[in-house]
Amino acid sequence: MASSELIHDLEKTITNIPDFPIEGIQFKDISPIFLQPKLYEAVIKDFVEFSKGKIDVVCGIESRGYLFGIAIAVALEVPFILIRKKGKLPPPFIGQVYDLEYGTSEIEMKTDQLQKGQRVLIHDDLLATGGTTEAAAKLVEKQGGVPAQFSFLISLEELNGSKKLEKFNADIYSILKY
Ligand code: PRP
Ligand code: MG
Repeated sequence: MASSELIHDLEKTITNIPDFPIEGIQFKDISPIFLQPKLYEAVIKDFVEFSKGKIDVVCGIESRGYLFGIAIAVALEVPFILIRKKGKLPPPFIGQVYDLEYGTSEIEMKTDQLQKGQRVLIHDDLLATGGTTEAAAKLVEKQGGVPAQFSFLISLEELNGSKKLEKFNADIYSILKY
């Protein structure tokens, strides 16, 4: 969906940092995008095109999922709900544990913001193993919401994250695939 010009500009802008934060990981630094307001605007426009008319709510995943998530929600004129890392939200909330490469982690979501039957876009900057996004979708389902769409700036294809999302029968969109 994204124009080849947008993809080219993003590829030029996002920097690859080898062996960060640990050896063997190629870190994709998206922060230079925020130095270019026009490029940022084009990214939001592209995400908005994917979701326009398809969802009632955007859920963004802390923290990099907030960078584009709120702007997408505002442009679509729909609510934005925070999915946060454990221990940050006041009650009432529910949590979902998920596996990391080593150990586990947990994300949480308030239980008084999403309404039953609402169609949700779950947005994050990056799809890697898919563990974080799968946990977010479970939080939405546990509350009777429908994970209808997933969007990412980047998906790391070799990690097969989209496999973990198949069961939700949702539309998945990544602007960039590596
Ligand atoms: C990164 C990235 C995604 C997640 C993807 O977040 O922003 O949220 O990992 O990984 P997965 O698909 O293997 O679950 P991170 O936890 O590093 O935190 P941050 O967004 O706060 O920087
Ligand atoms: Mg993140």
